[in-house]
Amino acid sequence: PKTTPLAGHSALVTAGPTHEALDPVRYIANHSSGKQGYAIARALKTLGANVTLVSGPTHLPPPDGITYIPITSAREMLKACENALPVDIAICTAAVADWRVTEQSNQKIKKISGDDAPTLSFIQNPDILATLSKQGPKRPGLVIGFAAETENVESNAKSKRQRKGCDWILANDVSPETGTFGGDDNTLFLIDETGTDCWEKMSKEASAAKLSVLIADKLKLNT
Ligand code: C5P
Repeated sequence: PKTTPLAGHSALVTAGPTHEALDPVRYIANHSSGKQGYAIARALKTLGANVTLVSGPTHLPPPDGITYIPITSAREMLKACENALPVDIAICTAAVADWRVTEQSNQKIKKISGDDAPTLSFIQNPDILATLSKQGPKRPGLVIGFAAETENVESNAKSKRQRKGCDWILANDVSPETGTFGGDDNTLFLIDETGTDCWEKMSKEASAAKLSVLIADKLKLNT
């Protein structure tokens, strides 16, 4: 078999957290490390794909030989993804902040007298996976999302797949007994239009490699 079955194909990967500014010095964020997304970007590159990695702030080195687009907020991530279109494959691994503050302050929010604390109000951020899945003629041929679940993993992920309009969902069992959260290993379920495939526990590198081979097989079937 060809060692670079994805040569000539383009892939967009989102990874990491997003940071949502409250004011020039403060932000809200989450604990996403970016490990899974970076591993997928490297694995797709290894199979010959032309990879664009749109990443929130992480401590990881940008992989060699790919187009790396660092962004900070969810809205920047969406804009960078839309600019990267058209692509053959889109994989959304980023832990995008669900909300941002309604109005970001231009100046550092000051402590006021006494015990008063500011009240923050939030609005919803764009859903990048759902937006990419509904791009009309520019929609990537294969759109893949992730779902971190702690219960009813399969049924929750199946309804997420429907709701977002993506082709595949990789569901991640992150309940505490699995040790997935913060760890290097993953127990994934791949959900497509035909059903669910339960993968054994493996490293994020190994699951990235397995996913990339499945993507290459799928594109071959479609050509
Ligand atoms: O709805 P939930 O956050 O559980 O969905 C997870 C999936 O959706 C992941 O693939 C994630 O990257 C993507 N997502 C996104 N933009 C958002 C929220 C989630 O792309 N605003």
